[in-house]
Amino acid sequence: LENGLLRTPPMGWLAWERFRCNTDCDEDPKNCISERLFMEMADRLAQDGWRDLGYTYLNIDDCWIGGRDDKGRLVPDPKRFPNGIAFLADYAHSLGLQLGIYEDLGNFTCMGYPGTTLDKVVQDAQTFAEWKVDMLKLDGCFSTPEERAKGYPMMAAALNATGRPIAFSCSWPAYEGGLPPEVNYSLLTDICNLWRNYDDIQDSWSSVLFVLDWFVDHQDILQPVAGPGHWNDPDMLLIGNFGLSFDQARAQMALWTVLAAPLFMSTDLRTISAQNMDILQNPLMIKINQDPLGIQGRRILKEKSRIEVFLRPLASHTCALVFFSRRTDMPYRYHSSLAQLNFTSSSVYEAQDVYTGNVISGLQAETNFTVVINPSGVVMWYLYPIGKQGTPQQREAE
Ligand code: GLA
Repeated sequence: LENGLLRTPPMGWLAWERFRCNTDCDEDPKNCISERLFMEMADRLAQDGWRDLGYTYLNIDDCWIGGRDDKGRLVPDPKRFPNGIAFLADYAHSLGLQLGIYEDLGNFTCMGYPGTTLDKVVQDAQTFAEWKVDMLKLDGCFSTPEERAKGYPMMAAALNATGRPIAFSCSWPAYEGGLPPEVNYSLLTDICNLWRNYDDIQDSWSSVLFVLDWFVDHQDILQPVAGPGHWNDPDMLLIGNFGLSFDQARAQMALWTVLAAPLFMSTDLRTISAQNMDILQNPLMIKINQDPLGIQGRRILKEKSRIEVFLRPLASHTCALVFFSRRTDMPYRYHSSLAQLNFTSSSVYEAQDVYTGNVISGLQAETNFTVVINPSGVVMWYLYPIGKQGTPQQREAE
């Protein structure tokens, strides 16, 4: 969607995967979906380095709605959001953050709260704009294909008509099976900034693989439709939660980054470990995710050894490579060369390991190299050519 927003994939925090529809503020006041939770996450985003690295969206998901007032306007749950959503938006803005909100095009949200029926689309768009909301995730539960075909374009137009720039996240394709002909990706590119293509991620490695496999199986369709202003969304990062090992957490981060995916954390930023913060706050990783060309990467090799190689082209003739192991035995010594990865250029390259920072120099197409990849882990390289006269200083200046 050419509304000037999300020229690079959005980064931030989204409540759903970690905090779900916990509305029991009596028993669990720290973790229930409430003003307090969002304010505490906003504080963490602002104070713990997240915002300054680009994690600026603070996104509310389901279970915030209390009902509609006598004019039909949405109101938040008065007990859990006593100061209203405009207050939360102001709070986010005062910290240099942006607020995202959730609704559902249908009679109910997925958890059964009041939805946005077609007759409410314009009013709800205006309400969100009045509250100074910055992003809307519009879900698709409890709607028919016909209602979605009308409602998503209608909401895009209604948001645009408010005059407030509001990024638009459409769950539409996820409700139509994610693939053409049911899904029209060129239409989505025109009306949405990002879209959930497929099923919800859950807190497990098998769920990461389930989502990843679907995206890779359909990469010929999905890869070309992503770009500045319009992104595929394989769903939230699980890093910091309960389901992933250290290597699996590194793998999800690397794979989502080469897929040019939104980086929506959904974890408790009040208690996240230093190790998980390092994964999420890796500056080179973020630079790669946020590359200005916005080209989604692809899996370029699938070996019998259960090693897979992903490549994402980046600006200034650089690229990111992810060597991913699906093995379950021990660290695997993978032997390759750039020529075996279909590099034909006569340039000399240097690679920086994104996680260790180690630099491998003097790589030419035929140079043999070995990467040691942990089970369900990755090695990730940032690869850049060094022209014959090129100096590191000149590269920096590019
Ligand atoms: C759907 C969405 C999830 C989340 C829930 C909320 O399942 O795909 O991301 O928003 O609804 O109920």
